[in-house]
Amino acid sequence: MSTSEHTDVYTNHPDEYYPGIRQRSRPGEAPKEEIYDKTKDAYGNVVTDKPANRAILASQRRRLEHESRLKAQRTHQQEKRLNDNKRSKSTFRSILPIILFLPLLSHFLTKSYTFGLSPYFLPPLRNYWNESPLNPYKIQIRTFTPQELVLYDGSRDDRPVYLAIDGVVFDVSANRRIYGKGGSYNMMAGRDASRAFTTGCFETHLTHDTRGLNEAEQASLQHWKSFFTNHEKYHKIGYILNPPLTDQDPIPEPCRVAEPDTGKEGGQHAPGEQAAKTGKHRPGPVQ
Ligand code: HEM
Repeated sequence: MSTSEHTDVYTNHPDEYYPGIRQRSRPGEAPKEEIYDKTKDAYGNVVTDKPANRAILASQRRRLEHESRLKAQRTHQQEKRLNDNKRSKSTFRSILPIILFLPLLSHFLTKSYTFGLSPYFLPPLRNYWNESPLNPYKIQIRTFTPQELVLYDGSRDDRPVYLAIDGVVFDVSANRRIYGKGGSYNMMAGRDASRAFTTGCFETHLTHDTRGLNEAEQASLQHWKSFFTNHEKYHKIGYILNPPLTDQDPIPEPCRVAEPDTGKEGGQHAPGEQAAKTGKHRPGPVQ
């Protein structure tokens, strides 16, 4: 047999020699060869249980055990989550009839659906509920920069209309007729024009600068703020980060507010005057 023809791996190659060489043999035919049991590894392969394989087999077994423990844990967590969901749904379902029944009971007893609660009570309750973590539809209070708020100035019909007063932003989309495009008070939308609310200067005081206001004007500001806070259809949605004012910024000059109904020219007119003249709309809560 030539050297290149030697293909049998169970016999030694004629050229293969070094001192102490172990003669190759067929499985089970070697002198003093130990025969080990056959076993299956983690993937179902039949392997011998010889010592060299044992460590690998043990580590495969450990890994399988670990994986099945993880799987069990995951299923347990999923089941728990499902159960929790079911439980909270069933709690809600069980209190729903009570929630629906209470207004009827109230109407029967007090002829009002709210147990005769004063309207002064309801807005704070509603505001609390709007922001309560228990409310699944709670309003996400967010912070606006002036540049972000201006995007909600009513110029686009597909966006809500927001306005800010004293740093608090309100959604006034419920009254697009007044604050939306072409509305009489549209100039107040998309910005914090606190000063105009107090001075009535709807052209020159469209600013958050409330420095130098007298007591009556301060009170008027608070009046308008609580008007928006307690309004049935408006709701608070966040805050505006007004740019800080420094001594370098001049306090806006007082403006001349035109007297309604005098017919005299000059001075700034309240935007609602025109609507008031047509008599179509009820005037806002002007003090
Ligand atoms: C400091 C002066 C004034 C301020 C700050 C002011 C502010 C406002 C505001 C914020 C609204 C909207 C209220 C809402 O959201 O429902 C409003 C509406 C209204 N205001 Fe004024 N207002 C002032 C003066 C006047 C005057 C002098 C008149 C009339 C002579 C007037 C007539 C009206 C009318 C008719 C509406 C309803 C507008 C409409 O339905 O289109 N306001 N006002």
